[in-house]
Amino acid sequence: MQSLLQNASEILRENDLGTYTVPTHGLYPFQWNWDSCLTALGQAYFDEERAWREIETLFAHQWEDGMVPHIIFHKEDDGYFPGPDVWSTGRDVPTSGITQPAVAGFAIKRLFDRAKDRELADAKARALLPKVKAWHDWFFANRDPQGTGLVAILHPWESGRDNSVDWDAAFERVPTDGVLPFIRRDLQHADADHRPTQAQYERYIWLVQLFRSLDWDNSKLHDASPFQVVDPGFNGILLRSCMDLADLADALGEVEVAESSRAQAGKGIAAMDTLWSDARGQYLCQDRVLGELIDSPSVGGLLAAFAQIPSERAATIAARITTIAEQVNYLVPSHDPASSDYDGKRYWRGPAWLIVNYMISDGLSRAGQTAVAQRIAQSSVKLIEQSGFAEYYDPKSGEPCGGTRFTWTAAMVIEFISQTQLE
Ligand code: GLC
Repeated sequence: MQSLLQNASEILRENDLGTYTVPTHGLYPFQWNWDSCLTALGQAYFDEERAWREIETLFAHQWEDGMVPHIIFHKEDDGYFPGPDVWSTGRDVPTSGITQPAVAGFAIKRLFDRAKDRELADAKARALLPKVKAWHDWFFANRDPQGTGLVAILHPWESGRDNSVDWDAAFERVPTDGVLPFIRRDLQHADADHRPTQAQYERYIWLVQLFRSLDWDNSKLHDASPFQVVDPGFNGILLRSCMDLADLADALGEVEVAESSRAQAGKGIAAMDTLWSDARGQYLCQDRVLGELIDSPSVGGLLAAFAQIPSERAATIAARITTIAEQVNYLVPSHDPASSDYDGKRYWRGPAWLIVNYMISDGLSRAGQTAVAQRIAQSSVKLIEQSGFAEYYDPKSGEPCGGTRFTWTAAMVIEFISQTQLE
């Protein structure tokens, strides 16, 4: 275990550019939103100040309307597509124009709770609190204009589960005409069989071009987008962050933030039940344009357990993971292995990801489903012992896939090992 921890900390240092950390050199040479928030949890074991800085750097690039972008292009780098010129968001330090899962509220609460340097934690959390709140408010105002309690993603990349089967049917509505010619860079760094197809890439860019043509005005993007999907995993993360922000605000004596955040979480969790499928034993995505559930059994519907869902739902999700475990050697596959769409090596269409494992395990453990939570934690550590610190893994063979020496994988290993040692 000690050598695993040492390797993990070496990876964090190797990818650390001082004020932010790249997910991995080459494939992802900038700062990514949820990567940074989860990475900070691992950094905190060595250097609390550095951990807070990771999140502070991200929020230094928050938009005036409250959005926190999914990528901050701190430096020029030709190795990534789509770069700043494609997004063209008109910012001094260029950023993308879409967002990513709102895990910051959870992350700062956890950093705060575990902090040894109380004074530092108090000051940092106090400064970040209104920024995270503004981001949450931005979500409900711009991505839930009807006030349902749940927010929609407008681009698959916002989900963080970029290439999931969940998006396929709704994505068919996204045209590809008028897409300007481009050269993909991801294929220079990773195996084409593990990455999205060319047709998918054209649709990704079509949406970016549409939003750019609307000057990235978030009050217009939701209704203009042919792709609006309510993802239970994405909402689960946001609602967990709202609840954690409420608790943090209580600890800091910020009563209004606490009350408003708790109301957001309560309304969202109640609305989450509209995404539940008895037939599948999990939550499903909803296609907001059609007003219908998407019958795609992906890990998004299990990840929802990160939020405080009703205990009987958490129990059903734990049972479902136990059934899924009969078909794989490593948990948790990003798509149901029994489905014909399952592809164990292709990005988000089957592979297991450590960050997802960490959040599901954390949520199930809080819900009292400790046996399944521990099983996921053990499976995660075993995967790394056998296959190293990859971006993601084939859940049947354990083969490492995608990028190598991956930052958030290393951070999650530190979390899993340290938590087990603490228990
Ligand atoms: C991929 C993942 C996304 C992640 C990014 C950087 O695009 O799908 O979730 O943030 O890589 O690691």
